[in-house]
Amino acid sequence: MSTPLTESPVSRSRTVERLVLGQATSDGAGVRLRRVLTPDLQQRLDPFLMLDAFGSDRPEDYIAGFPEHPHRGFETVTYMVAGRMLHRDSAGHEGLLQNGGVQWMTAGRGVIHSEIPQQEEGLMEGFQLWLNLHSSEKMMAPWYRDFAADELPRGQTAQGVKVTVIAGSSQGLLGAVSRPLTEPLYLDLQLPAGARFDQALPAAHNAFVYVYRGEVAVAGRPIPAQRMAILANEPTADGVVIEASQEARVLLIAGRPLREPIAQYGPFVMNSREEILQAMADFRDGRLG
Ligand code: FE2
Repeated sequence: MSTPLTESPVSRSRTVERLVLGQATSDGAGVRLRRVLTPDLQQRLDPFLMLDAFGSDRPEDYIAGFPEHPHRGFETVTYMVAGRMLHRDSAGHEGLLQNGGVQWMTAGRGVIHSEIPQQEEGLMEGFQLWLNLHSSEKMMAPWYRDFAADELPRGQTAQGVKVTVIAGSSQGLLGAVSRPLTEPLYLDLQLPAGARFDQALPAAHNAFVYVYRGEVAVAGRPIPAQRMAILANEPTADGVVIEASQEARVLLIAGRPLREPIAQYGPFVMNSREEILQAMADFRDGRLG
């Protein structure tokens, strides 16, 4: 279902502060991926802690999946562009994530889960974003929801840009998930060649664009495929204008910074070293999930 969008033009676009290539790595039981948002960018892109991009048609790159592992203190948002992955967790949730679907999991005080591919061949492509929780919410009860592709709000602009609103809102279209403390905006954009897309953004919110097909430009700066562009927080800019020099697919992600200390040890993200030690002890003693 696609809603015609009423566009609100941006009068002055943010510019690109820097382009980021990310790091090739592997995680889980050996899933090859590109870590686009790395730990050194957590302060700059607060409240976002990580963005992983995975995409391969070689089963050996993904088949082992992510066997049981814990999380505490933040949210994971998995967007599966192509492929099938089965999620199970210690809160009793189970869901099959596939082609165009999103899984939103709030780990809160603790979840132990597994994410295992349900295919032995073909393309598996998608993203996992980590969104931090405010200190007052880090120990909340876990929460989980799956959205199939056809349950996600979708719209189309007059220029033919297809917009999927995973979180936040865009030109009046409210997304699947909203969070009052971090106000995340998470858009997947499909832009035809020559199209322009305007998105309003509060100046204090941290924002970035990740191009996963084709190429776009922001304020005249080209952003090639497989690059993240960190958007400058300019007080006079009222949003971002994305122009597609060729057909492109892009994630646009923004949120309100928490401005709290970040203490991370692997899958635990808290505010202090003491809280990390507590998380490790709780996991070891079976009190986490
Ligand atoms: Fe996980």
